[in-house]
Amino acid sequence: MNILVTGGTGYIGSHTCIALLESGHSVIIADNLSNSKSESIKKIIDISKKEVTFFEIDVTDEEAVDHIFRNHEIDGVIHFAGLKAVGESVEKPLEYYYNNVVSTMVLTKACQTYGVNRFVFSSSATVYGDNTVPFVETMSLLPTTNPYGETKAMSERILTDFANVNPSFSVSLLRYFNPVGAHESGLIGESPNGIPNNLMPYVTQVAKGKLHNLRVFGNDYPTIDGTGIRDYIHVLDLAEGHVAALENQTEGVHVYNLGTGKGTSVLELVKAFEEANDIEVPFEIVDRRPGDIASCYAETSKAKRELGWSAKRDIVTMCRDAWRFEKNNME
Ligand code: NAD
Ligand code: UD1
Repeated sequence: MNILVTGGTGYIGSHTCIALLESGHSVIIADNLSNSKSESIKKIIDISKKEVTFFEIDVTDEEAVDHIFRNHEIDGVIHFAGLKAVGESVEKPLEYYYNNVVSTMVLTKACQTYGVNRFVFSSSATVYGDNTVPFVETMSLLPTTNPYGETKAMSERILTDFANVNPSFSVSLLRYFNPVGAHESGLIGESPNGIPNNLMPYVTQVAKGKLHNLRVFGNDYPTIDGTGIRDYIHVLDLAEGHVAALENQTEGVHVYNLGTGKGTSVLELVKAFEEANDIEVPFEIVDRRPGDIASCYAETSKAKRELGWSAKRDIVTMCRDAWRFEKNNME
């Protein structure tokens, strides 16, 4: 298939482009490079030994998107492009709603115009809010307390409403848990701008000496050791989950959790990282981070049953691959 990958130079998008190319699909990337670099393209080509087509465009730009659909035979869209910093979304709500929701509408409209019937959307476990773990696809969604999370819930809704009146349209809403790690080549991975908000990039930067020590946000949650539990998933497993979703897509709306189903606490992750890489990660316990929930992990049987996909890489592999990329990334 010929797949339009929006946000394809970003962290998850670049790994997914490689997985698509390795599975024999062709890739057209559309990205405005607001949170990634064009060097990503070269790395995707180096790793996969396949060519890709790249358009530096903003996917909220209807004309630019239309131009791609008009001039290329597109079989499906994977829509990664989006702004993703939770804290920033509280500061800049309009920017987040505009970028993340309008891009979904523009792409869906282009699919309608050009008769493209396969759509895969990057959603997030954040749409479950503070539900009871494990999170199951059939649960009612709860408010997410921040504009970023609401843009995911709104995009899910828009795609669902559209699919409901366009029976030949198939859409997979993929709810990611916590993507971490990097490609085993060490060439591509997650390189957040400024001080990282997420745990794994913070840990790798502490290990490298770029940051002083990890601040563990709270040790009084009702969890195994009091620290927050999350379902960390290797980005390569996540990438393969997209290929499985695309290749097994049937008409209608399909929601899938992409996680491992296994919860890991902050302190467990730190210990796994130290052991996997034989390096120390100094930390201190500080107050809880506002908006955090105690536990978040997936019920994963639906993806296994319907897509034949499940995550294979363990936490040690995630820690090793994340550290290899950080070491190679000399900035
Ligand atoms: P990323 O920032 O690395 O990649 C997103 C890419 O989209 C970037 O390359 C950016 O330049 C591009 N982009 C943003 N707005 C655009 C626009 N209007 N037009 C064109 N390009 C645009 O982020 P990521 O971690 O790879 O996340 C990919 C998707 O997955 C996002 O939608 C994100 O919300 C979602 N997601 C990520 C996580 C996570 O922890 N990384 C978790 C759940 C969901
Ligand atoms: C965050 C986002 C969520 C998004 C997810 C994946 C918030 C409030 N939520 O969730 O919307 O879908 O990333 O991108 O930002 N931790 C520390 N110290 C740190 C960083 C994190 O102790 O420096 C802890 C957190 O309290 C949490 C765990 O580590 O218990 C994971 O945090 P993080 O990586 O930020 O992911 P989420 O909180 O799951």
